[in-house]
Amino acid sequence: MSGHENKTKPTGTPVDEFIAHVEHAVRRADAEVLDEMFRRVTGAEPQMWGPTMVGYGAYHYEYASGHSGDALAVGFSPRKASLSLYGLTMQPEAAALLERLGKHRMGKGCLYVNTLKDVDVEVLEELMRTGYRYVTQQLDQSRPPVHQHFDAAAATWDQEPRKAEEARLLAQSITTALPLTGAERLLEYGAGTGLVSQALASHVASVTLADSSEGMRRAAQEKVSSGALPAGTRVWDLDLESGAVPADRFDLLVASLVLHHVQDIPRVLAGFHTLIDAGGHLAIADLDTEDGSFHAHVPGFNGHSGISRDQLTEWLDTAGFEDTTIRDSFEIDKEGTAFPVFLATARRR
Ligand SMILES: C[S@@+](CC[C@H](N)C(=O)[O-])C[C@H]1O[C@@H](n2cnc3c(N)ncnc32)[C@H](O)[C@@H]1O
Repeated sequence: MSGHENKTKPTGTPVDEFIAHVEHAVRRADAEVLDEMFRRVTGAEPQMWGPTMVGYGAYHYEYASGHSGDALAVGFSPRKASLSLYGLTMQPEAAALLERLGKHRMGKGCLYVNTLKDVDVEVLEELMRTGYRYVTQQLDQSRPPVHQHFDAAAATWDQEPRKAEEARLLAQSITTALPLTGAERLLEYGAGTGLVSQALASHVASVTLADSSEGMRRAAQEKVSSGALPAGTRVWDLDLESGAVPADRFDLLVASLVLHHVQDIPRVLAGFHTLIDAGGHLAIADLDTEDGSFHAHVPGFNGHSGISRDQLTEWLDTAGFEDTTIRDSFEIDKEGTAFPVFLATARRR
């Protein structure tokens, strides 16, 4: 990206010390302001990269040539001639923001500003926020491919009208299948942007959404802020394949189109069992076994081509669930092919 990947590594020099020794007084004052802004916007502690670059966060890159390494995500350098700003110009939002930024020049992968007096700091802050998000979520290749895929898909997820309609159909199948009283504490696992919970919200007392993708969690959180999801809805970073099971307990756990992305399904089902109080219900919607064409467009997809109903019934029994019932729920239409989705419900023993 910035062309600094090969050469520059974190040095361990304290950033405050570096800034305090910047010779040029205006550059030093600007560096102090930039440091405060970058820390606040990214939430990351700064690090010196090489002798003169201050970086916030890092990302891992891998080129097709096989070359790979780590680079700073966003940052700056108070150079003699001007301030260089890194990682702020590649995100889709950058072009419109740069038009409103004020006096600046574009360099190879970086942005030059003479002094902060020349620019609108609110626009600069927006460039920092969107740039940091872009580099750490879209460019960082150290995250598991499934997270990368869903982080990238989150922003436009709800733009496909069929998704809300499918969520509505699934919610209808769930409320028909289960004796909900309205007092249930709902956990939706792998909730994505929360479409299914939106459709279920009026049937339950509280909603908690969990997802391993940061992009999806942000989209869901935005819906809580806008009122599209009920006030008080919690959004959790949770991956039961690799993380611990939270202490909270629920009466209804819904997982829609998630399990086929999970490698170790029995482990996740054991986590579900712990999370549900005795007598509570589990509702799993997923693709019936298919020929692999459903994920043909997802590079590096390493999940399952649907899930066999018999296999799931066996896994649920082993995990401590009873009264498993599996029925047809709805179909996903992808480029003219209909993929049937089942709904499995079970009670926690
Ligand atoms: C196909 S989307 C379905 C989203 C939502 N449930 C729906 O039906 O609209 C799958 C979701 O599962 C999440 N996911 C995949 N693997 C996961 C895991 N191991 N733990 C938690 N969430 C996971 C993804 O980030 C993504 O948001």
